[in-house]
Amino acid sequence: MTTALLDVYLTEADGQAALRSDARAGLTSTPKVLPPKWFYDATGSELYERITELAEYYPFAAEREILRARATQIAAASGAQALVELGSGSSEKTRLLLDALGAAGTLRGYLPLDVSEAALREATAALAEDYPSLAVHGIVGDFTAHLPRIPAEGKRLLAFLGGTIGNLLPDERAAFLRAVRDALAPGEQLLLGIGLVIDPATMVAAYDDPHGVTADFNRNVLSVLNRELNADFDLDAFDHVALWDADNEWIEMRLRAKRPMTVHIHELNLDVTFAEGEDLRTETSAKFRPETVRAELTTAGFTVSDWWTDPAERFALTLATAR
Ligand code: SAH
Ligand code: AVI
Repeated sequence: MTTALLDVYLTEADGQAALRSDARAGLTSTPKVLPPKWFYDATGSELYERITELAEYYPFAAEREILRARATQIAAASGAQALVELGSGSSEKTRLLLDALGAAGTLRGYLPLDVSEAALREATAALAEDYPSLAVHGIVGDFTAHLPRIPAEGKRLLAFLGGTIGNLLPDERAAFLRAVRDALAPGEQLLLGIGLVIDPATMVAAYDDPHGVTADFNRNVLSVLNRELNADFDLDAFDHVALWDADNEWIEMRLRAKRPMTVHIHELNLDVTFAEGEDLRTETSAKFRPETVRAELTTAGFTVSDWWTDPAERFALTLATAR
């Protein structure tokens, strides 16, 4: 049986310390906020997978459509020996790239990095089984902290798919793109998946599905706090809210208190009060215009060489080379 190598850059203790710090800062600020990376415990990763199967959640299908059409072209343009992927999750769409890079004859290794150890273990085990000649090297890590530690195993193509770049706030995004550039050698490439600005109703529906899967995904962050920090959030006391912020051009997910309440977070020795109707922001998912993406990549030190969209122009994949 083929097995995958798994490195842990983010230990349980590091994760706990980061969650404590984010929860204290975010729940004592006005308005209340939590960073979206805390969605992804094993349950959160599974709920995200269910979201990707929903008809309303067009970004996943749109990106897959682009990859189906362009993977061979991407492989030819990159000639990569190693595919690194940030926020790889189940690596499902990545198989299209692995197949194309494999057929091109250059690929030796795949290095997925994800904060969700459960998702990474499952994905790397399945890939090692299905791609026996590929060196699969998973990294449990945080893509905002661990980029300098990604191994350089031959010429690399670094993929960041799904539109996850949109979950970073603008200043975080600029720092992240610069860190990606610094982690690459000149000539190595970034393949970036980006949700585009389209009509608000379609975007909002993708984050407010009628089956309630996205609502469960959103509320799951409260289960994470209950379990990890011994908090007593009542999940039923919060409504799921998804809205389009036209000024910032992002979708915002929130949890809205249905009634006034005080939540105790034992591990932080902290009481958090909510007024009726008060919001906790749990995610921003920025959507982009082509000119903004090009400008941000150029500023970070990349030269954009390709830009592909799905036929309905809801999502884009761009290939950029580190200068
Ligand atoms: N790339 C996949 C999954 C996207 S979901 C796709 O396109 O469908 C976002 C993924 O990023 C999740 O697997 C989540 O665990 C991971 N993630 C979120 N924040 C992260 C961070 N700061 N560092 C590393 N991984 C992160
Ligand atoms: C992972 N990320 C790109 C997803 C998004 O669309 O922002 C997470 C998600 N949130 C709600 N649905 C999916």
